Amino acid sequence: MKNTSEKHGKLKAAVLISGTGSNLKALIDAVQSGKLDLDIVRVVCNRAQAGGIAYARAADIAVSIISHNAYGSRQAHDEAVARVLEQDQAELVILAGYMRILGEAFTTRFTDRTINLHPSLLPLYKGLNTYARALQAGDRETGASIHMVTSGLDAGPVISQVRIPIRTSDDATSLSNRLGPLEHKLLVATVDQFCKRKIRSESGRVLYGSQVLSQPLQMNHDGSFR
Ligand code: GRF
Repeated sequence: MKNTSEKHGKLKAAVLISGTGSNLKALIDAVQSGKLDLDIVRVVCNRAQAGGIAYARAADIAVSIISHNAYGSRQAHDEAVARVLEQDQAELVILAGYMRILGEAFTTRFTDRTINLHPSLLPLYKGLNTYARALQAGDRETGASIHMVTSGLDAGPVISQVRIPIRTSDDATSLSNRLGPLEHKLLVATVDQFCKRKIRSESGRVLYGSQVLSQPLQMNHDGSFR
C-alpha cells in the first residue's frame, strides 16, 4: 500500500513574499528538518530588496524577482507572476507576507490552489493594521488565519486559525511578537495538511477528508489541531 505522497508525488508549492520572509523561513526549516514533505519549487518576490530572498537563495530554491514597478498595470504584473507559477506547475501557491492584492484574472486562474496567511481572526479585520484595530475595538483575543484566496480581499473560506488572548498591557508590537512564532506554526501545520492531502479545495469549497470544512480548524499552541 503506497502512502499518499508516493501515490501523488510530493506537493509542488511556490511561495510569494514581499518582505522579511520569516514565514518562508519556517517552511524551509520544516522541509529541511523532515517535518514537511513539500517541494518548494520557487519563491517569487515583488521587491528586489526584500530580506526573505536570502532564505530562498541559501536553500537553493529558484527565485524570481518580479517587481511590480516594472509593469504598467496590476494585471500585467499578475500575469508575469502567473506565467512563472505555471511553468513550474505549482500545485499550491502560498502567499506568505505577499503585500500585493492579486486581481481577479489571477485568483480565477489559481482558484482552489492559493492560500494566504492573515494576521487576524477572519472574518474580522480584513486588510491592514489588524492588531491596532483589534486593540481599538477592545477585543479580548486576536490571532491569525489561513484562508483560500478568492477575488475578495482576505475573503475566501478560512481553513485554520490560531488564537492568543489580548492582555491590558498589549500594544500592536507585543501582539505581533507573541503571534509571530504561532503564525509560523500555523502555516507549517496547515501546509502539512495539504501535503498529506487531508485538506484540499474544490469548486471554492474546502474539504477536510471527504467532508466540507464548516468551521476553520483551530490550532493549539503546540501545533496540533483540535
Ligand atoms: C505576517 O505577519 C503575516 O501575517 C502578514 O505579513 C507578515 C509576514 O511576515 N501577512 P514575513 O515576511 O513572513 O516575515
